[in-house]
Amino acid sequence: MKIAIIGSGYVGLVSGACFADFGHNVVCVDKDPAKIEALTAGRMPIFEPGLDTLVADNVRQGRLSFTTDLAAGVADADAVFIAVGTPSRRGDGFADLSFVFQAARDIAQALTRFTVVVTKSTVPVGTGDEVERIIRESRPAAEVAVVSNPEFLREGAAIADFKRPDRIVIGAEEARAAEVISELYRPLYLNQAPILVTSRRTAELTKYAANAFLATKITFINEMADLCEQVGADVQQVARGIGLDNRIGPKFLHAGPGYGGSCFPKDTLALVKTAQDAGSPVRLVETVVAVNDSRKRAMARKVILACGGSVRGKRIAVLGLTFKPNTDDMRDAPSLAIIAGLQDAGARVVAYDPEGMEQARPLLSGVEYAEDPYSCAEKADALVIVTEWNAFRALDLARLRAVMAAPVLVDLRNVYGAAEATRHGFHYLGVGGRRELPVAPQAVPAADAIDA
Ligand code: UDX
Repeated sequence: MKIAIIGSGYVGLVSGACFADFGHNVVCVDKDPAKIEALTAGRMPIFEPGLDTLVADNVRQGRLSFTTDLAAGVADADAVFIAVGTPSRRGDGFADLSFVFQAARDIAQALTRFTVVVTKSTVPVGTGDEVERIIRESRPAAEVAVVSNPEFLREGAAIADFKRPDRIVIGAEEARAAEVISELYRPLYLNQAPILVTSRRTAELTKYAANAFLATKITFINEMADLCEQVGADVQQVARGIGLDNRIGPKFLHAGPGYGGSCFPKDTLALVKTAQDAGSPVRLVETVVAVNDSRKRAMARKVILACGGSVRGKRIAVLGLTFKPNTDDMRDAPSLAIIAGLQDAGARVVAYDPEGMEQARPLLSGVEYAEDPYSCAEKADALVIVTEWNAFRALDLARLRAVMAAPVLVDLRNVYGAAEATRHGFHYLGVGGRRELPVAPQAVPAADAIDA
């Protein structure tokens, strides 16, 4: 089948490459000529494991191409996916749909035969109705169906998620449109991914409900972590203890510095606005948004506490800047609020991230960047793990301790345990563990004293 994807950002590019890999003929469209030129030359605008080779393979096989010419891409397509950005609108937090509606107008002009127009971007309930209205208004005779097919992929695991989804949701108002989209996913029938055909509005809301639920799950365990610290319990064991209940499930119960990224913060906020406008406020989600916002800053206070109550004039080493591992995405990353909090309290921050430093530079000021975890830790008064990159899972703790000015390890992702860190002479503070007393930072003894 022939597919055009409008918007070669994260979702558009991954979906385009994966559909091409299924054997479909895919044209990815973007209005940014520099992006299209880079993609045609095999350079990826984003970091996503496996994407470059998947794109290169499918370009070579002639199934995937890139263009700025929307009309040419749309003209003979069976399905046109709208995968443009829906950022939070400044001021009111509602999703900014101007790119979606512009795409709808452009697509309308280019239609030549029955085409299914699909919203893949996360869009508020009712957007599909508006897209259909825009298309019919500009081309009353167009043979078109507008469908919602939300994407549930995670950054860093996007290709695997696309190819082995838990489910596919197709929100369509007419059967023939649902059939076209089901057909696109036929290769997944082998994996027995359930296909859920719903009304358009139901599909749109399902996406928001999924993200809001996951954000709630994380926020719930984060609050349990705080409580654990106060009452002397261990949140990792609590998470295991509740997660083994099939009704709860073990995933998304890792306590940490709060959720970030391109989806959860934006989508929870958009759902809150939609629900308020509909006269049916989602108070639980409103609270999740507020709790998560304040949590990021609270993590800076945790570091200050670990440093004996003050970081003024101290050198704080931060490992991990991106909102999660395996991405270079800095959008709404907890590190931004944590670093700002530390700087406000007078700390000098030195940071290292395997992929995120380039994206971080324009967002942070006064931060020194290191080349690896060990040079980052040099002369530091505390080391803070903010993102659980694999590269931080097997650090040589003795070596780190030897180069630091004071042996304080604040592990906001519970990568290490208190026992292991303490064995190497660290004062350790994780998330949701036994409450540690504030420690007085101490000078590191000479290396031979550590070995003894
Ligand atoms: C999310 C959804 O998972 C995906 O289905 C949707 O399409 C887009 O939004 P993504 O933003 O890529 O995907 O990241 P995800 O892996 O879900 O993590 C989101 C945030 O939650 C990260 O900051 C992560 O560190 C945090 N998180 C996740 C936790 O703090 N604890 C957890 O147990 C899980």
